[in-house]
Amino acid sequence: MSETAKFILNGETYEFPVTEGSENEKGIDISKLRGQSGYVTLDPGYKNTGATESGITFLDGEKGILSYRGYSIEELAEKSTFLEVAYLLIEGELPNKEQLESFNENIRKHTLVAEDMRKFYQAFPHHAHPMGVLGSLVNSLSSFYPESQDPNRGEDAVDLTIYRLIAKIPTLAAWSHKNAQRHPVVYPKNELNYSENFLQMMFSVPSEDYKIDPVVAKALDLLFILHADHEQNCSASTVRIVGSSQANLYTSISAGISALWGPLHGGANQAVIEMLEDIKNDGGDVTKYLDKAKDKNDPFRLMGFGHRVYKNFDPRARIIKKACDDVLDALGIDDPVLDIAKKLEAAALEDPYFVDRKLYPNVDFYSGIIYRAIGIPTEMFTVMFAIGRLPGWIAQWKEMIETKQPIGRPRQIYTGANARNYVELNKR
Ligand code: ACO
Repeated sequence: MSETAKFILNGETYEFPVTEGSENEKGIDISKLRGQSGYVTLDPGYKNTGATESGITFLDGEKGILSYRGYSIEELAEKSTFLEVAYLLIEGELPNKEQLESFNENIRKHTLVAEDMRKFYQAFPHHAHPMGVLGSLVNSLSSFYPESQDPNRGEDAVDLTIYRLIAKIPTLAAWSHKNAQRHPVVYPKNELNYSENFLQMMFSVPSEDYKIDPVVAKALDLLFILHADHEQNCSASTVRIVGSSQANLYTSISAGISALWGPLHGGANQAVIEMLEDIKNDGGDVTKYLDKAKDKNDPFRLMGFGHRVYKNFDPRARIIKKACDDVLDALGIDDPVLDIAKKLEAAALEDPYFVDRKLYPNVDFYSGIIYRAIGIPTEMFTVMFAIGRLPGWIAQWKEMIETKQPIGRPRQIYTGANARNYVELNKR
């Protein structure tokens, strides 16, 4: 007999089916709860609420496991490339040689953005945060491709939007950096691979082409792979919920970019470096900052530490920590901020406050140090995360559309004023 959950309320028993995932994750399906009992569940931050069944990414926060479509993050990080991982996430299977070539070719074909879009950059102030610029421009892509308005227009139309998004996001991102510098933009070079092309658009100047270092391009590709998806996080849930209204894919992705921007999510990579810099400039005393993080009267949190789901270790952080050492060694960079990061990590991992709360370094603790070593300015760190996360957002959106999910619309428990009569202005 299949498992069920019983719920007793005011003497009445309600029975709900238990659903089981392919990795034995279990959930109580309460979709009929309100219809049967008139009650809803209350779960701020959705800490216990599964919003969907999904076949894209599996993670076990207790065991520190992360896999995309069944392939472990460790194996993909070692053997795959970002575009292959993008294909895997979006299509569900690893591509064969022809499929991968055709996918690469389709991305390569669309790397240019409409020349009119270039003018948008001139309207942004030079100090505009590149995440704000990127979100606006990705949203505005929908106005250049009106056929994308209908997310149910058919597979070819959806595929074309997907190619355009993956192809154009590095161009838009690099141009937002050029805009911040008030430098001329650099056009894509389609003979280069994805990461190389991004680097040359970021760092080439009219008088000199950027010399691509394979160590740097590979490190960037690795970071993109590690960020490519992370199941129902804040930004992926945002993409799904916006898309569930049948808004177009560009707009849904733009919403994901906005959600990612916050320091509790993707913005943490920028916040980590700023925190490490502050500690360095303040004399490098990590204990002082650990004490601040533990003090409940101090809003300071150890950025890059803790995770909603990982309560053991973040497998991506392990891979990044090693990559960070490799990249800095290969480039011959001695970054004092890396020493502070290592000291801080070692001290936190021995401190009962962090141990008891199972707070470990997350993916963003070391990623910023790599970005810095390869010359990416701090304000661009979250943009780098957005480029990496794009295939995951697309895969989440596609799954939501293909499985015909209903519009996302949570309930609430109202705690405001009871019904009362309007009082005329002169009587208040
Ligand atoms: N520094 C100090 N204390 C922390 C930290 C931290 N970084 N993270 C959590 N805590 C403490 C909380 O104060 C709380 O303590 P309490 O039980 O005494 O009240 C306890 O640990 C649990 O924390 P919550 O905020 O309830 O955990 P939640 O799952 O809601 O938050 C989050 C997870 C947002 C990631 C949190 O750990 C945090 O703010 N970390 C710093 C920001 C960060 O690095 N974000 C990136 C996340 S990864 C990503 O999005 C790519």
